[in-house]
Amino acid sequence: MKWCVIGAGGIADRRTIPAIIKDEKNTLVAVMDKNGDVAKATGEKYGVAYFNDEEEMLKAVSCDAVYIATPVMCHYEQSMIALKYGKHVFLEKPVCANAIDSRKLVDAFKKANKQINIGYMMKFHNLHVKAKELIKNDEIGEVNTVRLQFTCWYPDIKGAWRQIKALGGGGAIMDLGVHCIELIEYILDDEIESVKSFYSTKTFSYEVEDGAIIIFRTKGGVLGHIDVNFNIPDDASESKLELYGTKGYIQCNGTLAQEEVGKLSHLYAPQGDYSAAQNRTSGIATIYEGEKGNLYEKQIKSFRETVESGVLDYYYADRAVQVQEIVDRIYNEN
Ligand SMILES: NC(=O)c1ccc[n+]([C@@H]2O[C@H](COP(=O)([O-])OP(=O)(O)OC[C@H]3O[C@@H](n4cnc5c(N)ncnc54)[C@H](O)[C@@H]3O)[C@@H](O)[C@H]2O)c1
Repeated sequence: MKWCVIGAGGIADRRTIPAIIKDEKNTLVAVMDKNGDVAKATGEKYGVAYFNDEEEMLKAVSCDAVYIATPVMCHYEQSMIALKYGKHVFLEKPVCANAIDSRKLVDAFKKANKQINIGYMMKFHNLHVKAKELIKNDEIGEVNTVRLQFTCWYPDIKGAWRQIKALGGGGAIMDLGVHCIELIEYILDDEIESVKSFYSTKTFSYEVEDGAIIIFRTKGGVLGHIDVNFNIPDDASESKLELYGTKGYIQCNGTLAQEEVGKLSHLYAPQGDYSAAQNRTSGIATIYEGEKGNLYEKQIKSFRETVESGVLDYYYADRAVQVQEIVDRIYNEN
């Protein structure tokens, strides 16, 4: 698969381009960035052509797929440009800043019979796959309650697009919350039906929220709670994903991350009768470790294999659109 990249700094350079070129079935052909210095630096680093304009790049070189990692407000237009040139697109999360554009975008790819996938890489983490499998195998019974915490330290930075509503579409919810929503729906194989949120900009002076709590109920009746923050120091933050059911729990620590690290603890502790004494002897959990693979390599491989199979698959793109519907509701109704 021959690849071009739009938005060649940031996550593209740090994670995804290395993942693309690691797979010997891929070739990186060209990169584009509107910042000329970034385009040149990334192009030279990987020994490929570099451009400042996406159409110029797509006219000049031949490729099968385009990876897009630009500010959220560029996602719709740049994906549509790639589609106009007949390309499959791997687009960074979130799809677009609102659900209407997200739906239009995914539908346009379906209509043109081109693949579009969104960069929600956390569902490729072996421990998240394990959590899904444990639930499916009734290893914690019927899931009742889930909790997630995902944070990063993100102070005021002049001109940073994520801190400007018109460029990023929102703050901690749009940037971190979307990962949590997508992941929990994947693990539970369920959809969020009702959602409420409190959010604020408490610590920093930018216009988007620097912290939020989201509470929800899924169609299957699971109650959930998500915390996302830009204002908790990285060392003080606990990346957590906890699922509680009628027969036990799954607790993931450190798995909401860009690396396939962390631990999953699973406790199977079914209980018979009501015990008035409420003696809680803590059971012994089974511990599973992150397999330290590369989430970005896994997601790019999955995308390439889908395209090569000739059977295009929009299941996760549709789910990613549904995530934006939830985010719209949070921003519009709370
Ligand atoms: N899945 C993940 O792990 C993950 C992690 C970080 C970011 N992201 C997503 O990736 C996207 C980019 O985020 P980032 O952190 O890399 O941002 P960034 O600001 O670090 O990098 C964005 C790059 O895009 C370039 N750019 C800006 N406007 C452009 C335009 N109109 N055309 C071409 N290039 C343009 C910038 O010069 C910069 O090099 C966002 O959608 C973000 O949510 C995903």
